[in-house]
Amino acid sequence: MNQPLMPMPTDMPHTTPHLIEADGLSMHYTIGTRQVPVLRNVNLRIATGTRVAIAGPSGSGKTSLLLLLSGLERPGAGSIRVDGVDLGSLDRDALADLRRERVGIIFQSFHLLPSLSALDNAALPLQMAGASGAREAATEMLRRVGLSDRLHHRPSQLSGGEQQRVAIARALVHRPRLLLADEPTGNLDDQTAESVRELLFSLNRELGTTLVLVTHDLDFAARCDRVLRLHDGQLHETPVQRQPELTDAVSA
Ligand SMILES: Nc1ncnc2c1ncn2[C@@H]1O[C@H](COP(=O)(O)OP(=O)(O)OP(=O)(O)O)[C@@H](O)[C@H]1O
Ligand SMILES: [Mg+2]
Repeated sequence: MNQPLMPMPTDMPHTTPHLIEADGLSMHYTIGTRQVPVLRNVNLRIATGTRVAIAGPSGSGKTSLLLLLSGLERPGAGSIRVDGVDLGSLDRDALADLRRERVGIIFQSFHLLPSLSALDNAALPLQMAGASGAREAATEMLRRVGLSDRLHHRPSQLSGGEQQRVAIARALVHRPRLLLADEPTGNLDDQTAESVRELLFSLNRELGTTLVLVTHDLDFAARCDRVLRLHDGQLHETPVQRQPELTDAVSA
């Protein structure tokens, strides 16, 4: 997991100072006639190339926020710009194109396609984009998450942690500008979790990928630039609890 990633493509889009700019975001779910409020007037700026952890109690709206930032859900009010693009101005197909080109998403519940092997699941984003070398890139990314010997297993033939690592490989295979990750180490043992943290941080260092990580993992949050906490529908900046032995690595 320590080898450098491939160099940044030369046709990278221009860099905006804030990869995410969200203003006045509100969101609720509707169940029958009842409205379940989730976010209330949330404003968020995430600088390009930074690592941001999002914490908060179960049910506080962390997954919902990631769904908004990915354009998979629309806010009830407010606006979101991702990499300079106003999500509100895009239709579903254009949102899907944006995700395919610039965004990687690691879902809390993986969302792997059950009939496809690990390799085909991981190759899917590149194959859908018509890119060459999709299987080779997926094989390499699966190697980096420690799954070289599970390439041809289907999700039902993989453990929960292995499925999570396939989902991670799939989210990273197209080297996105933005990675939205919903508890990416939630199902992993300490050693595998550390290799996943290293993989995500190396992507950040080497390609400048902006990381937005929903996590209860204190080690992960301690190595991020910012920690935001969702509570009562609002986001609050909280101090990063640096661990002494990590301070050098973070500031290096
Ligand atoms: N499709 C839905 N319809 C109605 N309510 C929903 C829906 N999805 C989520 N909710 C509710 O919205 C609130 C926020 O859910 P969300 O999944 O964003 O929380 P979370 O912070 O990610 O929680 P966890 O840490 O348990 O994953 C919860 O109270 C949940 O019950
Ligand atoms: Mg969640």
